Amino acid sequence: MEKKIFIKTFGCQMNEYDSNRIYDSVKKIGFKKTNDQKNADCFILNTCHIRDKAKEKVYHEIGRIKKIYKEKAKPIMIVAGCVAQAENQEMLKREPFIDVVIGPQSYHKINDLLKKFVSNNQKEETEFDTISKFEYFDKIKNESNKISAFLTIQEGCDKFCHFCVVPYTRGPEYSRPFSKILSEAEILIKNGAREITFLGQNVNAYSYFENSKEYRISNLINELEKYSELKRIRYTTSHPRDMTDDLIDCYANNKKLMPFVHLPIQSGSNKILKLMNRKHTVEEYINTYEKIKKINSEIEFSSDFIISYPGETNDDFNETLELVKKIKFINSYSFIFSPRPGTKAADLKLIDYEISKERLNKIQKYLFDHQISMNRSFEKKSIEVLVENKIQGQSKLFGRNKYLNSVIFDGAENNIGKMLNVKVESSNQNSLFGKIENNKSMRAA
Ligand code: SAM
Ligand code: SF4
Ligand code: F3S
Repeated sequence: MEKKIFIKTFGCQMNEYDSNRIYDSVKKIGFKKTNDQKNADCFILNTCHIRDKAKEKVYHEIGRIKKIYKEKAKPIMIVAGCVAQAENQEMLKREPFIDVVIGPQSYHKINDLLKKFVSNNQKEETEFDTISKFEYFDKIKNESNKISAFLTIQEGCDKFCHFCVVPYTRGPEYSRPFSKILSEAEILIKNGAREITFLGQNVNAYSYFENSKEYRISNLINELEKYSELKRIRYTTSHPRDMTDDLIDCYANNKKLMPFVHLPIQSGSNKILKLMNRKHTVEEYINTYEKIKKINSEIEFSSDFIISYPGETNDDFNETLELVKKIKFINSYSFIFSPRPGTKAADLKLIDYEISKERLNKIQKYLFDHQISMNRSFEKKSIEVLVENKIQGQSKLFGRNKYLNSVIFDGAENNIGKMLNVKVESSNQNSLFGKIENNKSMRAA
C-alpha cells in the first residue's frame, strides 16, 4: 500500500535542496508526499541548528504533531538535518516520540533506515560520508520541476568561525564533481528550471580537481551560461575570503549572473572579526565590494551580521553601524549572537541582553530603512520578473526581480516560467506589487 510522507524543512536553502532529494529517494520505496499532516504515515523534520531558537522549533513542532496523533496510530518520526547531526542520541532521550535520527551526510541511507526501522527499530545514522551521499543522489534523478531551482555544488566548511556549528553539522568542505553538477543542471533545465542557484555553505570555495586542472565556481557559471533556456544564475552563500578574481570577472563577462551578491561580513570591527576567526578584514571586504561595483554599479549587496559577539564594545558596534551607512546593503540578516554547544565561543561571557537588543534594533533600523527605500525606488518603474508560481488560493502570480525581491501581481497561470515586464505600483519592506505591462517584450523564457 502507498504510504504518505510529510516533510517539513527548517533552516537554509541547502536543507530545502536536501529535502527534495530525500523525497526523490523515498519515492522509490513507495512513499508519496502529503501536505495533510493528519494523514501522514511518516514525518521528516529537516532541521537547523544555527541558533538556539532554530533548534527549539524542532521540539515544539514534535509537540504539535504528538497532539494530532493522540488518538491515531503513531507515524514514523524522523529527525534529519543539522540538529540531528549535533544532538543525535540526546534527541532520542529528550523526545521518545522520535524514531529515527539522521544527519545530513547520511541521506544515502534513508531508504534502508526506513526499511530497517520497520523491521528492527534501528535508530540513528550520523556519520560524515558526504561522498557516498552525493554518489547515491547522482544515481537518482532530481525531479524538482521548479522554475527557480537549487543545486548543491559544495557542502561543509573548514573555516571554523568560532560562533558557528556548520563545520560540526555539515563536516569538512567537499566539492561535487564538475561533470555531475552539470548533468544535474541539465536535468533541472529539462524539468523547466529557468533560474539555477548554486548552493554551498562556502559556495565560492568550490574547488574540484580533474586531470590536474582546477574547476572553480566561475567555471560552473561559464558552463551554465551556455544553456539558452536558462535565464538566470545565482549562488549562495559566499565567504569574503573566497571572492577570487575569476569569480569577480564573471560579473563582467556573464549576462545571466544576477547583479546581486550575498556576502556575509558579520561585523564592521576588525577586532571582532579576529575574535570570531573570520579570516578577513573589513578593508578586504570593502576592497571586494569596490572591485565588483566598479564592474557594474548596479550590482547590489546583502549581508549577515552577528550582534553582540562576546567582546563587542560600543565602539566595535559603532564600526558596524558605520559600515552599514557606507555600504547600502539592500537586504540583510542580523541576529544577536547565540552560543552554540561545541563551538569555541560556546562559553564566552555574553553581553547583557538589553544592550544586545538595543544594538540589534539600532542596526536593523538602518538595514530596514535601506531595504524600504530601495524597494520604493522601483515604484512607477518597469522591472523584469521571472514568474515562479501562482500564490495559493489567489489569482496573483509570484516572481522575483534581478535582486531577488518578491514581486506580486495579477496574471494568468500560463505566465509561469516566463520573463515579464511588470510595472511596480507599490512596495513594502519585503515585496513589490505591480501590474504586467502590456508589452511586446513579453517573451517565453
Ligand atoms: N558561510 C557563510 C559565511 O561564512 O558567511 C555563513 C553561513 S551561516 C549558515 C549563516 C549565518 O548564520 C551566518 O552568516 C551568521 O550571521 C549566522 N550565524 C551563524 N552562527 C550564529 C550564531 N552562533 N549566532 C548568531 N548567528 C549565527
Ligand atoms: Fe560557519 Fe560560514 Fe564560518 Fe563556515 S565560514 S564556520 S559556515 S560562518
Ligand atoms: Fe541551519 Fe544547518 Fe543550514 S545549521 S543554516 S540547516 S547548514
